[in-house]
Amino acid sequence: MLKFSYSIPTNVHFGKGRIKVLAKEIKKYGSKVLLTYGGGSIKRNGLYDSIVEIFNENDISFCELNGIDPNPRLTSVNEGIKICKENNIDFILAVGGGSVIDCSKIIAAGYHYEGDPWDFFIGKARIKQALPIGTILTLAATGSEMNGNAVISNMETEEKLGTFGESLKPKFSILDPTYTMTVPVKQTAAGTADIMSHVFEQYFSPTEGAFLQDRLAEAVLKTCIEYGPIAIKNPENYEARANLMWSSSIALNGLLTYGKITDWATHGMEHELSAIYDITHGIGLAILTPNWMEHVLDNGTVDKFVEYGVNVWGISLEEDKYSVARKAIEKTREFFKGLGIPMTLKEVGINEERLQEMAEKATKFRPLGGFKKLDKNDVLEIYKASL
Ligand code: NZQ
Ligand code: ZN
Repeated sequence: MLKFSYSIPTNVHFGKGRIKVLAKEIKKYGSKVLLTYGGGSIKRNGLYDSIVEIFNENDISFCELNGIDPNPRLTSVNEGIKICKENNIDFILAVGGGSVIDCSKIIAAGYHYEGDPWDFFIGKARIKQALPIGTILTLAATGSEMNGNAVISNMETEEKLGTFGESLKPKFSILDPTYTMTVPVKQTAAGTADIMSHVFEQYFSPTEGAFLQDRLAEAVLKTCIEYGPIAIKNPENYEARANLMWSSSIALNGLLTYGKITDWATHGMEHELSAIYDITHGIGLAILTPNWMEHVLDNGTVDKFVEYGVNVWGISLEEDKYSVARKAIEKTREFFKGLGIPMTLKEVGINEERLQEMAEKATKFRPLGGFKKLDKNDVLEIYKASL
């Protein structure tokens, strides 16, 4: 029986040139801004200059935190909190992909917290309050532009953990697909895989009767299958970039989850890989996903795989359900491969050495998965099948 409360408060300004609303949006919340960004892609493609021009024209004063790494570090969070406190910052503008946005969210929460912001990730503290944050998204992948999640890496403990806070949801997000036209092929492929994985984590669920959510989920998957390859072949194709960008937000803003038990086992397993080996999140997901699918396929789950195969891949219903399910899994693997993603852990520098340790860490608190529960041995088997 479906039962939920709906809350997606982020104002989205979507389309070419929507940066025009930036000054007006910021001024609703603050006057002293921390501008956060990554390793320099926004300087190379001119977005940084456009933002500074808008700030100057509108008397918006600002400080900067740059160099936020992919798989953002706790050290950048602490650096950002310090800048905010020293400069009485009242608004954070995150310009980048999920890493910059996630790091900015925890800076926003850490500003109002006296302890170590890592406490938010290890269950020692809950996020109650945060500085208001806005985003200009430059990479379609995580959905962080429209949700209250953040994932941070602690290099000292080799952990990569997630947290959530209602107050972390961006006040506004500017989604201009032209900003994603400079995203390299590898990141476009990884982003597409990440979006699809977010959908899988919510689609493969034991909850029955969420017909609308399931059809919406299939639509997002079909959008990625249609436009991922086009964006890779022609990075400046607006239609492809726009459809991928909107998919990234819809895939993880809550819409597909409402009322459903969700899985998130593949993400749990992937975060262990990135925590130790610092690999690209979407690549890790693409490697693990088909192996996870094969591992969880059984009499209790096969019907969902048939639904997926028929509705998403157009596989015709045959007598043997398992044959449809296996074809759907193979299509998934082939699709990721076709995007140019290396499909084995060895290709991204991960060998057998620490698989046992990662399987233990992934299941330290509880088994993974809501579609099918995975214990340490299941996780280890999936890792081994992915080698
Ligand atoms: O740092 P710069 O120079 O900007 O380069 C970035 C970075 O190297 C580059 N890039 C971004 N936009 C670009 C661009 N290069 C050229 N042109 C552009 N327009 O892409 C690289 C990767 O950026 P990153 O932000 O790390 O990628 P993504 O958006 O995939 O974020 C990944 C992070 O988000 C977390 C992941 O675990 C990972 O840490 N996730 C966050 C979630 C959330 N908040 O809801 C959910 C996800 O499942 C995920 O776990
Ligand atoms: Zn993800």
